[in-house]
Amino acid sequence: VDQTYIMVKPDGVQRGLEHYKDLKQKPFFPAMIDYITSGPVVSMAWEGIGVVPSARKLIGATDPLQAEPGTIRGDLAVQRGRNVIHGSDSPENGQREIALWFKEGELCEWTPVQEPWLIE
Ligand code: GTP
Ligand code: MG
Repeated sequence: VDQTYIMVKPDGVQRGLEHYKDLKQKPFFPAMIDYITSGPVVSMAWEGIGVVPSARKLIGATDPLQAEPGTIRGDLAVQRGRNVIHGSDSPENGQREIALWFKEGELCEWTPVQEPWLIE
């Protein structure tokens, strides 16, 4: 089953550099690292069928002014440089980011009682 790493920004703990290494060449990279290391974050690992695109749909477009109403960024944010929340962009990056942010044993596995009624 796919997994995605979800982070409520801004984050601290000096790990933003590794997390966003794909964007190192971008002109906004230094400003983004200042932002992402400016305070604590809430880290989450979500698992489910198609969870990566579903989570990104809930989150909305990178630029909050382009994000639809009803999405987290569309409702709660104004600028790309302060867009509230992160979600992995592929299942591969979901696994990579979860491994970066969580240690072995920190994630709990559980089965919701309604699962047989949600998944055939
Ligand atoms: P994440 O879920 O945070 O990875 O956002 P994303 O996948 O929608 O966008 P992307 O991975 O391309 O960019 C990562 C983050 O860099 C964005 O969420 C923004 O916070 C920041 N960012 C992207 N483009 C710009 C920009 O043009 N200016 C600034 N200041 N920040 C940007
Ligand atoms: Mg991204």
